[in-house]
Amino acid sequence: MRFDILTLFPQIFDGYLQQSLLNKAIESGLVEVQRWDFRDWTTDRRRSVDDKPFGGGPGMLIMCPPVFECYEHVVRQAAEPGRLIMLSPQGRRLDHELVRELAGERRLILLCGRYEGFDERIREGLAPLEVSVGDFITNGGEVPAMLLIDAVIRHVPGVLGDETSSRYESFAEAGLLEYPQYTRPREYRGMKVPDVLLEGNHQEIARWRREQSLARTRQKRPDLLADSLDE
Ligand SMILES: C[S@@+](CC[C@H](N)C(=O)[O-])C[C@H]1O[C@@H](n2cnc3c(N)ncnc32)[C@H](O)[C@@H]1O
Repeated sequence: MRFDILTLFPQIFDGYLQQSLLNKAIESGLVEVQRWDFRDWTTDRRRSVDDKPFGGGPGMLIMCPPVFECYEHVVRQAAEPGRLIMLSPQGRRLDHELVRELAGERRLILLCGRYEGFDERIREGLAPLEVSVGDFITNGGEVPAMLLIDAVIRHVPGVLGDETSSRYESFAEAGLLEYPQYTRPREYRGMKVPDVLLEGNHQEIARWRREQSLARTRQKRPDLLADSLDE
C-alpha cells in the first residue's frame, strides 16, 4: 500500500517513519510512504504558499496553485491514481469502519493543511474525501495524517506479525471493546490475575473474555452496543 503525504512540513514525519512497525513494513515492501512539499510548486522568490483570506478575517489560507500542481505531479508518480484524502476537522470522523475502508485502497494521497486551512476551491476542484480525527482543532494535518496511517497499516496483510492481533482488538470483534489482559507477575501489589486465565481451560477463557468485553463496553462505551443493536 502506498501513501503520498502532501504537506508544508515533510520533516515532521522523520521520526515517525522510523518507528518499528512502520519501518519494518516499509523495509519489507508492504508499505511505501512518499512525502511532498507544497513549496516545491511555488514560483516566487519567497516560495509563498499562503495568503490572506478575501473579505478579511484572521490568519492565512493555503493557496490553490501549489496544492493543485503538487497533487497533479504526485498522481502521475504511480499507475494507481489513489484516493485523495484531505485531513480536515470538517470531515467524516475517522473510526474503525473508515479505517478498514481506507485499508482496502492500494494508494492514499493525504493533503495536510496548516494555518487557517485550505482555499475552498481545493475542495471544489480536487473533491477529496475529508477526514477528521475528532471534534477539535490541531495545528496542522500532519499529526492527523500519522494517526490515519498508523491505524490503516494495521490492516495491511503482513504488517502485524500476528494477524489475529488486529482481529481481537477493541472495535474489531462485533464492535466491542477488548477484554482485560494480564502478563507476569501473577500478583502485583495485591492485585491478582483472574484465576480463569491461569487454569488453561480455553473454552472457559473464551467465555470469560466475551463476558468481560460486553461488560466493559456496557460500562465505558454503551453507544457501541446501541450501534450494534441498530444494525
Ligand atoms: C488550524 S487547522 C484549520 C482549521 C480551520 N480554520 C477550521 O476552523 O476548520 C489547520 C489544519 O489542521 C488540520 N486539522 C485540524 N484539525 C483537524 C482534525 N480534527 N482532523 C483532521 N485534520 C485537522 C487540517 O488539515 C487543517 O487544514
